Amino acid sequence: MQYRFQVVYFEATRRCNLRCPMCMTGSNDAHRVRQSFRRELSLEEIRDRVMMPARRLGIHTMGWSGGEFLLRRDALDLLRLTVDLGFRCSVLSNCKRLTRERLERIRDVTQGRARIVVGLNAVDEENRWSRDSESDRTVQVLRDCAELGLGQHVVITIGKYNTRSFEKTVEFCVRHNIAYNRSPLVPRGSGAGCFSGMAFDRDDLERYFHPALRRHPHGYVSYTPYFLSPELHAQASGGVRNNTVPQNPSIGCWVGSWLTINAEGDVSACPVLLDALSGGNVRDKPIDELVGSSTFFAEITDRSRLKGRCGRCRYQYTCGGCRAMAFYHGGDYMGEDPTCFFDPVDRSTVSEHEEETNRVFRQYLLVARSAGVYQPPKGGQPGAGSPSPAGRLYGRTAGR
Ligand SMILES: C[S@@+](CC[C@H](N)C(=O)[O-])C[C@H]1O[C@@H](n2cnc3c(N)ncnc32)[C@H](O)[C@@H]1O
Ligand code: SF4
Ligand code: SF4
Repeated sequence: MQYRFQVVYFEATRRCNLRCPMCMTGSNDAHRVRQSFRRELSLEEIRDRVMMPARRLGIHTMGWSGGEFLLRRDALDLLRLTVDLGFRCSVLSNCKRLTRERLERIRDVTQGRARIVVGLNAVDEENRWSRDSESDRTVQVLRDCAELGLGQHVVITIGKYNTRSFEKTVEFCVRHNIAYNRSPLVPRGSGAGCFSGMAFDRDDLERYFHPALRRHPHGYVSYTPYFLSPELHAQASGGVRNNTVPQNPSIGCWVGSWLTINAEGDVSACPVLLDALSGGNVRDKPIDELVGSSTFFAEITDRSRLKGRCGRCRYQYTCGGCRAMAFYHGGDYMGEDPTCFFDPVDRSTVSEHEEETNRVFRQYLLVARSAGVYQPPKGGQPGAGSPSPAGRLYGRTAGR
């Protein structure tokens, strides 16, 4: 199987200087962190087993995360190497160490090409329940990034704790022209202790999260349910896929577009599925060989095998349903997404939100093209006009 993954998301350490109560990497579990530290991949292993093979796979972005990635002594060396090898570079940080001087240092070692990704679950005090930090600190870092010319991106982890504030958080991002993605609360690591009480359900998704998500192109990089007409995507993309997952641009569930790695080298298909589902370890095989020979990746990137409502849905390919929600709620990563509020009879059932999704997707194509993650097929496509300033949403800088 020839794959077309786009991004490697790498949780390169479980160590952290915060103690978020629902931390999925288990960074507040001292025993686990100690054990993991002894087995963390070294810079040489990361270069030889992950980065060089990822180039061979055609991956364009390395996303560094943790734990707190910046606690690694070789963090800046890894960032420098990322750019030297020709990758785009993202750094997911909790902001505690992101002083202005440190941001300048990151900018220098990455030749201004880094994009800073921050977790912001609410722009007010609601942030505090799920993150061991004040939202003010995160907002200050976003401001510093803008002044220093660094790209910015926000991750909003969603659950019952931020149903009411979500729209306000989205409006904040839109107002500041910052791209964001929603990430579902999962029972991974310390998330296990709060999943049953705090996971969102289909009603929360329908009433609170989805109306805000479908309204702005800033969040179209990934969310579900995603009611995009399959005909429109096929036309805009020229039919580019990874197995059966639509690409150019990638949409809906991130499974099939991302490869993810934990600190000990286990590989999975989504950040929130790490530790729970593994397609193998890069210490056994370099990541290109590992993925190429894995039955796990062959199955999970094949949306034609989806079951239940996702398997009879018009949006089976353009949405795919959140594979993490299918797995954590139903135990089957190819099962239907139980948090979806759409009940298709068969493929002829059209969502009342398709028209709006198609319209905003056309705007997103402009953004994605400017950011270099979308290339219109020859002949020109709907919405795929000339590059727009909206490309700043994805932190694109000249020369990438
Ligand atoms: C594990 S953190 C690592 C990066 C950095 N330390 C931070 O917190 O931003 C990456 C993202 O995962 C999110 N996250 C943490 N625990 C989670 C959970 N149980 N379910 C889903 N997302 C979670 C965080 O909010 C953050 O946006
Ligand atoms: S969510 Fe991020 S900041 Fe919070 S404890 Fe986990 S790794 Fe640290
Ligand atoms: S049924 Fe599944 S594929 Fe269809 S919109 Fe809902 S989550 Fe997406």
